[in-house]
Amino acid sequence: MSRPNVYITRSIPEQTIAELKKTCDVEVNPHDRALTREELINAVKDRDAVVTLLTDNVDADVLDAAGPQCKIVANYAVGFNNFDTKAATQRGIIMTNTPGVLDKATATHAWALLLAAAKRIPESERFVRDGKWKGWSPMTFIGQDVDGKTLGIAGLGRIGSMFARKAAAFDMKIIYTNELRNEEFEKQYGATFVDKDALLKESDFLSIHLPLTPETKYYIGAAELAKMKPSAILINAARGPLVNEKELVEALRNKVIWGAGLDVFEDEPKLADGLDKLDNVVIVPHIASATLETRLAMGKIVTDNILGY
Ligand code: GLV
Ligand code: GLV
Repeated sequence: MSRPNVYITRSIPEQTIAELKKTCDVEVNPHDRALTREELINAVKDRDAVVTLLTDNVDADVLDAAGPQCKIVANYAVGFNNFDTKAATQRGIIMTNTPGVLDKATATHAWALLLAAAKRIPESERFVRDGKWKGWSPMTFIGQDVDGKTLGIAGLGRIGSMFARKAAAFDMKIIYTNELRNEEFEKQYGATFVDKDALLKESDFLSIHLPLTPETKYYIGAAELAKMKPSAILINAARGPLVNEKELVEALRNKVIWGAGLDVFEDEPKLADGLDKLDNVVIVPHIASATLETRLAMGKIVTDNILGY
């Protein structure tokens, strides 16, 4: 059998590419940017396997462009809302993702956003860099204590549970929503299973760890934000469309909630109008899993999936 022909839609760690090259013919998107739709459709043609990113919309047209010899599409991401899994099943194509290995990095990142928002780190850092700091002052950049507060978690999957685990240092009351109750988790972390309404009303910090599906789109919008405490901080390191970003901008502007920390956005890399003008939001460019260890581990899963197949 000839060597399998693999296309990678964007440069990923060299080690991963080298591993695949041992047994496969590998071609990588030469540009330091995502492929356009047209480029993607041309690039996948006649490949046996394709490695995709969360920015690639892999639908029926892309799968048909690849052709019937294409047997596996491996996403270099845990989220797979960019996949049309139904179209793949109909064509007998396997789709894979990279679960597990990025739980720690992503949970840590959600904590980084929470702490940065609560302690107003980016805002006060800008103040120092802008040369505005004239000396110590007792009442500037007053933030929020985290210790002893109520931590709300929407979605207790692998990342949500890892996020909860890291709360131990802050002696928090943990409440959560999930499709299924997890009594084992409750015992271990003294957590309480609540409904969405209670989650919104009682959380001092609310972090979303849900997959993006048609049902979870706009999980948080104006109506939900109105139920939250005026002192609440919302964290999203999952997927942008879980939150109605326009309505969040309004809520932050009108102090309906106190702050937010966002790693993901509705229409990346675009931001909702006015978001970047607000000081009470921490915004970073979808980097939750961006650590070298995690990126390599994601690469290993992608390689194992393709070679395993
Ligand atoms: C990152 O957002 C991922 O889904 O891996
Ligand atoms: C703060 O720096 C303090 O000494 O209270």
